[in-house]
Amino acid sequence: MFTIKNHLEIEDGQLTIGGISATDIVKEYGSPLYVSNENRIRENFRRYKNAFPDADLYYAAKANSNITLLKIMAEEGAGADVFSDGELYLALLAGMPRDKILFNGNSKSDKELYMAVKSDVRISLDSLDELKTLSKIAKKEDKVIDVSFRVNPDVSPETHPKISTGLKSSKFGIPNDEVVLAYKEALDLPGVNPIGIHCHIGSQILEIEPFSEAMHKMMDLVEQITRLGVDVQFVDIGSGLGIPYEKGGKVPTPKDLADLILPIFKSRCKAEGIKPKLILEPGRYIMGDATVLLTTVNTMKIAAKKFVGVDAGFNLLIRPAMYDSYHFAVVANKADKTPEDIYSIVGPICESGDILAHDRELPKIEKGDIIAFLDTGGYGFSMSSQYNGRTRCAELLLNKGCIDVIRKPETYDDLLNNQLIPARFL
Ligand code: LLP
Repeated sequence: MFTIKNHLEIEDGQLTIGGISATDIVKEYGSPLYVSNENRIRENFRRYKNAFPDADLYYAAKANSNITLLKIMAEEGAGADVFSDGELYLALLAGMPRDKILFNGNSKSDKELYMAVKSDVRISLDSLDELKTLSKIAKKEDKVIDVSFRVNPDVSPETHPKISTGLKSSKFGIPNDEVVLAYKEALDLPGVNPIGIHCHIGSQILEIEPFSEAMHKMMDLVEQITRLGVDVQFVDIGSGLGIPYEKGGKVPTPKDLADLILPIFKSRCKAEGIKPKLILEPGRYIMGDATVLLTTVNTMKIAAKKFVGVDAGFNLLIRPAMYDSYHFAVVANKADKTPEDIYSIVGPICESGDILAHDRELPKIEKGDIIAFLDTGGYGFSMSSQYNGRTRCAELLLNKGCIDVIRKPETYDDLLNNQLIPARFL
């Protein structure tokens, strides 16, 4: 038995997840499948928390908002970063404490703001316009809502442009030089109580230096708004710590991030004589490597390349098509075999871009083999769709040798969900 990556091992030639063979899982539950390891999720969370013992961690629900996974997060003491009314609904249902939920979003509808106000959660405001709308809603509901502003710190992390969120040109946040004005306005408006400040510079960040720049810029603003009379109770630095999708490469850990940003945070708070709570909003780091997508080979074809057609495409894992992202692929039932050929693994979707893995050196692949895509827990299932009339697959949770189905596979009925057929077609 040997470990290939974290909680994944190879035993008698079979890939095992949390001690259970991937092939056996597929035999029992079908294919494709998302399989998450509860132990790994908890370990990841605890590793992050140990690096930031005094901070609050708000799990980014968008990474995977399955209710059972949210409940695990709540059990671990996490709060939640929610980005929609639906995520807010799920976080509350999962038992997340209201004062540890931050409602984020760059274009919240009035309906969503009403829901956040009625739910007594904190709101991160993305514009002055939104501040005014919220003030009116809160006043009408006779409430005073704790708010922060999302700052656009104009920091450029090295990541895929589609997941870089703190650039000056980004749609997120209030430009750095307008933030103080925003707090001034908030202090004068009824229904809102500015108590925090928030930013998020991007995702899958592997060079962490930009976090230090962001922290300095945030603390510059904290100083200015404190002098304005804001009682800053939290500084939310967002998230974005990358994970090692490709084997081998050195990646920063939460401890590296803590060593970089905590001294800045602490020294600047001390200098200002304030004691705000630090908040971080990890998503990918918690769920990413805890989940594997298991797929089965439908068909093989030798054309311009050796194509392996599997039963999952970008309907279930859109990251490779959307961000050219890399997910390690393992032939689960031949996990100890040496590579023999170069294959491109493609999905069944009617789009040329439906390629899950380009030119991978793998053991000889045949129809019926099971291919596992690793590190698919962050933004895997949560970005899935029914495109091409494909039902979504099940989600399983492994815990101490037991398997729970935490989402049933969809059926054809689900393709008709909420559709109504006008009488003249019946
Ligand atoms: N907080 C805020 C405000 C965010 O916008 C995000 C992610 C997070 C926290 C969590 O970031 P993380 O720890 O996961 O890096 N679909 C893309 C990622 C989009 C991330 C959007 N925001 C992907 O598959 O890579």
